[in-house]
Amino acid sequence: MNVELYERIWMWAASGLIVAFLSLIFVMTGLHAITPPSHFETVDPASLASNPEFSSPGVRPGPDGGVVVSVVAEMFDFNPNPIEVPAGRPVTFRLTSADVIHGFEVVGTNANAMAIPGYVSQFTVTFDHPGEYTIACNEYCGLLHHNMVAKLIVKKGTP
Ligand code: CUA
Repeated sequence: MNVELYERIWMWAASGLIVAFLSLIFVMTGLHAITPPSHFETVDPASLASNPEFSSPGVRPGPDGGVVVSVVAEMFDFNPNPIEVPAGRPVTFRLTSADVIHGFEVVGTNANAMAIPGYVSQFTVTFDHPGEYTIACNEYCGLLHHNMVAKLIVKKGTP
């Protein structure tokens, strides 16, 4: 009888552990892992053509004397291209994708984010050094992934 009791205790303990680990997974995915970490905003990737912002992506005036750049990534290009922004002022990028996940990395800077279909990735950077930069897709997105580049022109003293 004692053996059976111990077996029962261990069975309950083992089941309890499994339930605890599973709940941990559900809590983590439900509350933390599913949403992008910083900026949560959705957009319908199938109707970007009629979206007031992303149907005509480009550079427009933003807060604090900076600019806001709306960018659509799509196999295998970025729109707009080239992108022209002022030096020394905040540049807020708003990225989305029309098809699959792409990367958006301004090579040689810390500007780096993912363009995810269905979501708007937003981040703000200030480019202190005027010049021409390469924007590269750094997420594998298909056969011509390696050709998916664009040009960023940082101009001194332009609005
Ligand atoms: Cu787009 Cu790789």
